Amino acid sequence: MDRRRFLNRTGLAVGAGISLPVLSAFEEVNQCEKNSSQYKLNSWSDLRDMFDLETGKTHMALMLLASHPKPVKEEIERHRANFDKNPAEYWEENFQTAEPRVVEVAAKYLNADPSEVALTDSTTQGLGILYTGMKLREGDEILTTTHGHYSTEKALEFSAERSGASIKRIDLYEDPSQVSGDEVLSRLKKNITPNTRLLAVTWVHSCSGVKLPISEISGLIKEVNQSRAEKNRIYFAVDGVHAFGLDNIDVNELGCDFLVAGTHKWIFGPRGTGILWAKKDAHDMLVPVIPAFSMAYGEWLGFIPKEQINFSHLNSPGGFHAFEHRWSLHKAFEMHMTIGKQNIASRSKALNQMLKEGMADIPHVKLLTPMSDNYSEAINCFEIDGLGPDEIVQKLHQKKIIASSSPYRKSYARLTPSVINTEEEVEKCLVALRALF
Ligand SMILES: Cc1ncc(COP(=O)(O)O)c(C=O)c1O
Repeated sequence: MDRRRFLNRTGLAVGAGISLPVLSAFEEVNQCEKNSSQYKLNSWSDLRDMFDLETGKTHMALMLLASHPKPVKEEIERHRANFDKNPAEYWEENFQTAEPRVVEVAAKYLNADPSEVALTDSTTQGLGILYTGMKLREGDEILTTTHGHYSTEKALEFSAERSGASIKRIDLYEDPSQVSGDEVLSRLKKNITPNTRLLAVTWVHSCSGVKLPISEISGLIKEVNQSRAEKNRIYFAVDGVHAFGLDNIDVNELGCDFLVAGTHKWIFGPRGTGILWAKKDAHDMLVPVIPAFSMAYGEWLGFIPKEQINFSHLNSPGGFHAFEHRWSLHKAFEMHMTIGKQNIASRSKALNQMLKEGMADIPHVKLLTPMSDNYSEAINCFEIDGLGPDEIVQKLHQKKIIASSSPYRKSYARLTPSVINTEEEVEKCLVALRALF
């Protein structure tokens, strides 16, 4: 693919009313391009053409579950055909190389070491493995928020029940639309006690669309840890699923100890896949929860030396999986890196900003998500006077716009554009919203 052409054509794509960013120079060293050379990927519409999404509908809820783009789909089909022909031999011939290949590409995407990345089946599974496996003790305190997903809440509850640790759950903001970094940091700071051993947060809240300033929170934890003995250190864990595949992610810059994400949402990986990343110096804090197969199983059978077994091997749950999906995940990461993580981030921000600014101009729409892209990503939660969230979603469906509502105690309607959407589709949503009164 010609990088320049991609950028130039992207830069030319100016939508009605907003200018898309002139994309920054292609900074990433990308060795994945050759893998996608059989695909035309020079513009955002080329990307859209990689999906078999139902036409005639505006897809604004892919945050729930991805559609598989062509490279992912073809890889899945290749593996599936081989498994169907000869499952035992195909697995035996490939398991020692297929999974490490996925881990290596995932690590490259994260700017991490492959030994730090375990493969999971979903965000929920990653959260379960992480919080259940954490070596917490009676008297330890888990500091978390009221804004996390059900999966975080439950995984922490199970963890507390097993370990005897307690949970302190706090609000990080009153009004999501007005959230500020200072407010979040000061509330956290106030609630850290000498017993706090784990801070568990969600990067982008699917209930409100608020995006937390993770690097700043990492800075705060680092500061607190400076005056603590290693055994009392606070670990910082993040459910990052709604920034993963959108933000130009570099785990080192984030500064947390653990990052969990499903890869079947924004990154367009195979359904039933996810990652759990853990910084090297946090590996000792986890006891594996589900017996691993593949390489860790190899230690038992003697084909991999014990000293080479690492966090990734031990925490990628074993058992026989839908391997055609698990082994095709690298194709999604490669596609993102081919386009460029920063290009994806800029495009996503532009579409979401266009939507939010348009919503703010509609008197009967109340946007709960912050306008600033420092505190929001691509989940836009809103209310309309006199209509419940499900009624809004239904009315939008009638206009062939696929929206969603948040499955929380207090639910809101959501529109969540991704990089496969267009300015015209965003405008279509705004026209529909204006008419919903
Ligand atoms: C913040 C958050 N975490 C976790 C999940 C669960 O994700 P998964 O389906 O990958 O388990 C969701 C669902 O969309 C979510 O919004």
